[in-house]
Amino acid sequence: MKPLIIANWKCNPITLTEAKELFNKIVKGVENIESVEVVICPPFTYISTFQHFNNPTIKLGSQDCFWEEKGAYTGEVSPKMLKDLGCEYVILGHSERRRNLGETDEMINKKVKAALSAGLLPILCIGETKEQRESGKTEDILKEQIELGMSGILPDQVSKITIAYEPVWAISGGDPYKTEELPTPNGINKIFSLIKNIFSETYGDKGLVKVIYGGSANAANSKSFLEVSEGLLVGGASLKAEEFIKIIKNI
Ligand code: PGA
Repeated sequence: MKPLIIANWKCNPITLTEAKELFNKIVKGVENIESVEVVICPPFTYISTFQHFNNPTIKLGSQDCFWEEKGAYTGEVSPKMLKDLGCEYVILGHSERRRNLGETDEMINKKVKAALSAGLLPILCIGETKEQRESGKTEDILKEQIELGMSGILPDQVSKITIAYEPVWAISGGDPYKTEELPTPNGINKIFSLIKNIFSETYGDKGLVKVIYGGSANAANSKSFLEVSEGLLVGGASLKAEEFIKIIKNI
């Protein structure tokens, strides 16, 4: 399986000109690399600009979607709309949305189901905060996020889902829960085994889910994370074209 490297641009950059510049640099830097699958998730407003580019290495993704297909839902963007613009992936349940917008596991579960029905591949983010980690609740939190987030998902749909383990305390960019610490490959490995066990207990031999790591990944540390992870969800470092290209070329 090819490593999956996902760029989560979050609410950046501010102008379309900058977004195009960043996108074009990344496309140019990774063309002809066939050993990696790269997904770029820009803000909604830039997605249509990138829909017609053609590069076999790079796919388009979105950072969220709504759970209904259409209707009276002011401000929402449906998974069908994103699919129509050429998105293949959608990030769901990011901790910044859980924290800043009050997204619950139930809401995230509805989004996972809607994304799957629209033909999008969900990247379901899970992860514990610093406080939860320090009070020894990591395992329970991850279990709950998986159980509720995956509720009603059929065994045959598991292969379409990627779990992004993003310990909230390791995410960069002004996160109030951030610590100076990053998880070690060994620590990530333990968490991944826990996640994989939950999936195989729930879904049997159909529970072989892809699990990737996210949280302050950059060109200097990506190699060590990728020794244990099947991919990376990259925030801050995906906004610097050279740095992001290095992560991909390092593989
Ligand atoms: P970061 O963000 O790489 O800037 O820590 C990762 C994420 O939140 O997806």
